[in-house]
Amino acid sequence: MNAPVDLNCRIPNNVGLADDPKVRRALERWQPKYLQWWHEMGPTEYEPNEVWLRTAISVDSGGWANYDYVRMPEYRWGIFLTPREEQAVIRAGDMSGAPAWEQVPGEFRNALRRIVVTQADTEPASVEQQRLLGRSAPSLYDMRNLFQVNVEEGRHLWAMAYLLYKYFGKDGREEAGELLERRSGDPDKPRILGAFNQPCDNWLSFFAFTMFTDRDGKFQLAALRESGFDPLARSCDFMLTEEAFHLFVGETGLARIIKRAAELERIDPNGDVRNQGGIDMPTMQRAINYWFSHCLDLFGGEISNNAASYFGAGLKGRFREADRYTDHRALDDFYTLPVIENGELRSREVPLRNAMNEVLRDEYVKDCERAVRKWNRLLEKEGSEHRLRLPSRRFHRHQGIYSDHCFNPEGELISREAFEAKAPQWLLGPEDRRYLDSIMKPVRESGKFANWIAPPTRGLKGKPIDFEYVR
Ligand SMILES: [Fe+2]
Ligand SMILES: [Fe+2]
Repeated sequence: MNAPVDLNCRIPNNVGLADDPKVRRALERWQPKYLQWWHEMGPTEYEPNEVWLRTAISVDSGGWANYDYVRMPEYRWGIFLTPREEQAVIRAGDMSGAPAWEQVPGEFRNALRRIVVTQADTEPASVEQQRLLGRSAPSLYDMRNLFQVNVEEGRHLWAMAYLLYKYFGKDGREEAGELLERRSGDPDKPRILGAFNQPCDNWLSFFAFTMFTDRDGKFQLAALRESGFDPLARSCDFMLTEEAFHLFVGETGLARIIKRAAELERIDPNGDVRNQGGIDMPTMQRAINYWFSHCLDLFGGEISNNAASYFGAGLKGRFREADRYTDHRALDDFYTLPVIENGELRSREVPLRNAMNEVLRDEYVKDCERAVRKWNRLLEKEGSEHRLRLPSRRFHRHQGIYSDHCFNPEGELISREAFEAKAPQWLLGPEDRRYLDSIMKPVRESGKFANWIAPPTRGLKGKPIDFEYVR
């Protein structure tokens, strides 16, 4: 049902751009602006390097990607949607079971535009946040993975820009332009969401970002994959294929730091990991607390009319809505969550639809818990007494019902003074950043790794660990 894959035109695609001159020309005009943005805000210093990269070339689950040396500015950013199901239906909400929309329904136009733009904005934001990390890469293997993530976030921006140009008319064109104007962390024209304006300036943060922030991306995309707006569902579906690798980079990157820390703990006469130039587990815990709490904010308010109306309209579904649920209306159920009333935590029941952000956050937390259990098994196996954990979802929040109050990592209500006194112990701070900067010296020799991180268990796509991933 899809148009055939066209790899030879200026913008590789399987959306039939060759037969869609208006959208094709608009995207071809956007392309030089995108490349200019990439040149200014991407990993600029590495433009001359050849990087062994994966490029999406189709949506076949068997062989959807090509691996080869590419200079990043020459990366072939394409537009790929997974094939249309013959009988695509609206999967969630009041109209569930009705045919899915091929065009944007007028009444949901603003809401859908906002959803697409908010998702789209995160893609260039993360490239901007990571743009200087190449300088301190702990190995060529890691440097290549950073660049792989970067070019694919760029491709996700292309996927969203296509939707804006194709389906949202003049507003869509303006939004696509603004996506290249905002800048992560810029006080005057920041990116839309908080976590995408936080500095990600060392590799511990990079791995925490790909572990926790890209994982938020996974769950947001999974909710949009259930959208009744079929082109959005199909483009998110394919983005998820690429996203899996970003999560692998984050989860295994943190695991390799943990493994190395345990080794250094054994080597040091006093078990002092920092004394050996490694990343100690209290620092790791602060990075987890910092990034996990910022990422929880990305799911939106715990009790949300927007979430209810998006679900009711079928614009978003729950995680695996179609496979895991039978009641796609979710009108009769309630969700119980702790709220603060008169300075105390009390349980409150809210209609399930209003708690849809929290339902998605639950899935996210579960997935993060799985990774933490794995890291703790690794610590145990390596003979370390340290254990890691996720803080309570109330801890250090800036959005939602907990954001006006202070909580400790266990989730107990505390005073602002008590929070501030403890914050340096709980959250990655300037002192940690100084230390991390001091140990993150670049390693450029194939097969060699910085002292603070263990090598991966294997290379990529059958290549050895000492393959020249960047040259
Ligand atoms: Fe992405
Ligand atoms: Fe990603």
